[in-house]
Parts: sequence; structure tokens; C-alpha cells
Amino acid sequence: MYLCPKKESMLSTSHFVPKDYLNTIEKGSFEWSAPSNIALVKYWGKREHQIPANPSVSFTLKNCKTITKLSFQKIEKGTDFSFDLLFEGQPKESFRPKIQKFFERIERYLPFLKEYHFIIDTQNTFPHSSGIASSASGMAALAVNLMSLEKQLNPEMTEEYFNQKASFLARLGSGSACRSIKGEVVIWGNHQETENSSDLFGVEFANLHSNFKNYQDTILLVDKGEKQVSSTLGHDLMNGHPFAEKRFEQAHKNLSKIKSILNNGAFDEFIEIVESEALTLHAMMMTSMPYFILMKPNTLEIINKIWSFRAATQTPVCFTLDAGANVHVLYPENVREVVLQFIKNELVAYCQNGQYICDEMGVGAIQLNEF
Ligand code: PMV
Repeated sequence: MYLCPKKESMLSTSHFVPKDYLNTIEKGSFEWSAPSNIALVKYWGKREHQIPANPSVSFTLKNCKTITKLSFQKIEKGTDFSFDLLFEGQPKESFRPKIQKFFERIERYLPFLKEYHFIIDTQNTFPHSSGIASSASGMAALAVNLMSLEKQLNPEMTEEYFNQKASFLARLGSGSACRSIKGEVVIWGNHQETENSSDLFGVEFANLHSNFKNYQDTILLVDKGEKQVSSTLGHDLMNGHPFAEKRFEQAHKNLSKIKSILNNGAFDEFIEIVESEALTLHAMMMTSMPYFILMKPNTLEIINKIWSFRAATQTPVCFTLDAGANVHVLYPENVREVVLQFIKNELVAYCQNGQYICDEMGVGAIQLNEF
């Protein structure tokens, strides 16, 4: 295991265990949206309790998001959690095991959970089965809603605590969800050179150069099918992976480099790290045991087209990949027209049913309503 000369996280999990609540609340509801995010330095590999094996950094998205309404009504405290699940207004029992597990993990930090009946009503802005994971935005949206209830029980809570704990809870639902709470760029995981960085929650990266403001992400939907390999299994395969130590070490170094790039605006260096990280993520999958390939032939066609276009036009456009075949095309706002034209002319042909999603950098979770 790579041991970075690590400073220990300032906060421990006990920071998020509440003491007494000042208020009692009978019923109400909240509604929040939370976005997806796209990692630049990838998180791949985890330890117990959703602790990342290496630090990561992501751009927060704006349009790909989950909108969740949480209604709650006080009940006699039972032995189990009491909740109904709706997806786009219809009952969705298939979500139950995941939410049950999430509640079990977070109960210690939200001891009121068994004292309410919840109705969790969720919808995504991106198409169903687009190959875009909804776990990050979904878990982040649920976490901020639960924190709104905790804030009513304890109105003295600071905004900083609210956001940190929302990120902490979201992480326990899906690791990368902790990067979807607050900030345009979010770092998660202990990192020697990042003050206040933590394995327990994401922290906002504040020194963003204007070159990266409103950065664009056009998501090319190459394969909209279900993931062949869950990210949980993928993370597990980093245990005992022959290249794991070097990979974790590289992630620490790439995070140090990309932080100064995000600060000084150097596109060439940005592109080099982002594309290398995407290919390294997939290289880890291809060299694990069992091994697997999530890229499709059209993923590679698109990558090659992007490389040719960049060489021919000097446009600072690059790609990154998630744990799937879809390609995220990243570029600054001032080349939007030319890149969208290139996408329409040369890349759409490789997308399933010609589909792609235009997104850009966003700010994180947003409260929509309180009733
Ligand atoms: O949050 P999870 O457990 O679904 O893992 C996400 C891992 C990647 O999307 C492949 C990389 C990342 O850092 O988001």
C-alpha cells in the first residue's frame, strides 16, 4: 500500500454524531436538486466504510441532476426504517435495498431516522438508462434533504457543518456522491498538499482560473445499456491489483499537478493529465483479475477523432471517461460553437441513436422548496 506522508484528517467520524436536538418537528417536506460530477483525477479503489484508496478531483455538472422531494411524518419509533419510494411519481420498489442499506449506514449520524415515515420522490433530468450513473446525484440529493431535516431539529447548525455532513452522508451512499454537494471543483480524499482535505467528505477547490469557468462537458452516449460491471466490484478489484500501489501514488501526484494547472489555466497540461487519468482508469480494469473492458469500438473511434481535430485546429478539447463506454468531451466555453459543430459533423455518428447531452460546470446542490 502506498503511504503518502499523510497528515491525518482533522475531523473524525464522531464529529458527525449529533448530540441533543433542540427542536421537535412533526411533518414537512423539502425538495433539492443535486448534480452529477465528472472526475478529472479518478477515484478507483476503496477501503472499508467507503474510504477512498486515493484522492480525486471532479468538475461539478449543472444539467445532469437528480431532483428529490423528501416528505416526512413523525411516527412511533419502530425497529426498522419506514419509507416509500417513488421514481417519476410511480412506486419504485427496486430502489428499496439500496436505500435500506444507506439508512443502515447513516443511522448512527442521523439518529432520528427511525422516528419518521419518509416518502422519497425522485426524478433525473437525464434520460433513463443513458449509461449515466445516477448514484452520485441521487445520493447527494437525498443527503441534502436529510440534512435539511436535521437543520430543523438543530437550527444552530452552521452552513459549513451542513455541507460537510451532507457530503459525509452522501459518500456513505456512493463514494463519488460526496463531490456533488458544493463547489464547481471538488477534491475528496486525504492529500498532503491540500489543506483540509479529507477521506470523509469533499472540499471545494476555490482557486479556479478563469480559463476553466463554465467549462463545457458534452456527454456522448455511446452505449446506453446497463453497466456490465458494478463500480463496487471494480473498486474491490483494486485490492491485490498488481499495479495498485503505483496507481495510488500516481493519483496523489496528478492531483498536485492538476491543482496548480486549475490555478494557472494551462490547457495543454490539463489535457495531458485528464486524458491520461481516463485511460489509466480503464487500464486498471483491463489488468485486474478478472479483467474487463468497458470501452466500445465507438469509444476509441471518438478518442481518435478528438486527437485528430485537436492536432489540426489546436482547439483545447479533450476527453474523459467514467466507468463505462460514454465519452465526456471537455472544452472551454469560448470554443463552444466550433466544438459543437465538430461533434455534430464527426462524432454524433458514433453515438447510440445519435444522442448526446450538453452539460457544463455547475455549483452543486440547490434547494428548490420547503413546505
Ligand atoms: O462513486 P462510485 O463508487 O460509483 O465510483 C465512481 C468511480 C468513477 O466514476 C469511475 C471515478 C470517479 O472518481 O468518479
